[in-house]
Amino acid sequence: METPPPYDPSSETREAFALRATLQGVSSAFAALGRVFLCVDRQFRILHASTLLDRLVGPGASAAVEGVAVSDLLGDELFGSGGTLRQLLLAGERREGWRALLTLDGRDPVVVAISAAPFRPEPGAVCDLRVAYVVVLRPATEDITASSPSGVPGLIGRSAAVERIARLIETLEQSEATVLLSGESGTGKEIAARAIHARSPRRDGPFVAVNCGALPGELLESELFGHVRGAFTGAVRDRVGRFEAAGGGTLFLDEVGDLPLHLQVKLLRVLQERTYERVGENQSRRADARIIAASHVDLRAAVQSGRFRDDLYYRLRVVPIEIPPLRERRTDIEPLATHLLARVGARQGRALRFSPDALRALLGYGWPGNVRELENALEYAVAVCQGQTLMPDDLPAEILQGAGQAGAGTAVSSEVEDPAAIEHRRHPAPRPDVALRRALEQHHWNRESAARALGISRTTLWRRMREAGVRE
Ligand SMILES: Nc1ncnc2c1ncn2[C@@H]1O[C@H](COP(=O)(O)OP(=O)(O)OP(=O)(O)O)[C@@H](O)[C@H]1O
Ligand SMILES: [Mg+2]
Repeated sequence: METPPPYDPSSETREAFALRATLQGVSSAFAALGRVFLCVDRQFRILHASTLLDRLVGPGASAAVEGVAVSDLLGDELFGSGGTLRQLLLAGERREGWRALLTLDGRDPVVVAISAAPFRPEPGAVCDLRVAYVVVLRPATEDITASSPSGVPGLIGRSAAVERIARLIETLEQSEATVLLSGESGTGKEIAARAIHARSPRRDGPFVAVNCGALPGELLESELFGHVRGAFTGAVRDRVGRFEAAGGGTLFLDEVGDLPLHLQVKLLRVLQERTYERVGENQSRRADARIIAASHVDLRAAVQSGRFRDDLYYRLRVVPIEIPPLRERRTDIEPLATHLLARVGARQGRALRFSPDALRALLGYGWPGNVRELENALEYAVAVCQGQTLMPDDLPAEILQGAGQAGAGTAVSSEVEDPAAIEHRRHPAPRPDVALRRALEQHHWNRESAARALGISRTTLWRRMREAGVRE
């Protein structure tokens, strides 16, 4: 620990010296942990900032913030007069894991995780009586710039399957070939399409996505190819289609299996001749968009049953990329969960970590909704989690139940689909409200035993009942 300047009775009282020495000790202890320590008064002004702040934002920072309002340093949203953390501190509560951007005039902003608590000194402690709150900061930049083990930015995963896809994307770097992505809902087809575009020669052009299943045929045609004024009722002016909008870039045709047969013919022609017409117009236009298509239905089966043209199918699958479901690449769960927790947390201004048990529950679950389900589960968890560490109790009920069935953690390093996952697919986890209701009914609405059966606390059960609108 640093030694404070020696006691000099001509310039300070013995108490002031003792205080200064204590503060310096505390400050050094927090620095050793990589944390910045702030003492805050009743008016939410900074009385003291520990010297690690100098290393975080630049020399002189800790001295510069003395007397400054906390809201000036960490933002109004948390510390302004109606700020969330301020209100909680005023109510006597402690909070951990909130995220903020630390900004100080003329210096680069830093993302920090914040813990804050009311300060109640023990009797006899040497302390500054003006200190009403303590705030501890940890640099949190690393939480959101989660590295991408696959080597392709944005595409997280370390399974053999994701590695293979990442290598393929790299080899496509100089190519404009049409790509067909297939995989269950939520497996990451769109994110792969964006990654392909971002590394392609067209990376500076637009990426335009169209969901072919979202519009009825007539509207979809004009959406894709545009129309001229008067082409149909309601066409009051000329309209540029998505093919044109994606000129010089990439057109992502999502759910291409939903394309009606007459539009399949038109798309085939674009792919073969690179030309198309706007609806209601005879003039041919040149299409200059690279096509990436995606489908969650098996297009081969659609071809066999006559719902999809085989010539179009072969035109689209010049480079076929299949993204396996998450349960068949379980080694991706952990890096994805960590990445998504940082991302979801950042959206809600929080920096959180998993408890080992919570992570184990995620690893043992079957994920019928794939990565999207994982993202939604974390969104829920971040919303209900009070501290800095995400506990199993914070996860949606179906994951805890599913994890139990799947023998948590046993299949973590295996690429082979485990029997529990297959079982899970046959009997997917019920929706949270259904799961709650079922447990409560089984226990004759005794909340204590229902909570025990679900492996959650009574308060968590009560909160989930309220959120899911479950009542006796
Ligand atoms: N490998 C991955 N790395 C990082 N994020 C991923 C990955 N795979 C999926 N995600 C995330 O999961 C969510 C779902 O992914 P995406 O939208 O790409 O799936 P999809 O296959 O297009 O699903 P759907 O068929 O439902 O449209 C997105 O938020 C995406 O960012
Ligand atoms: Mg999608």
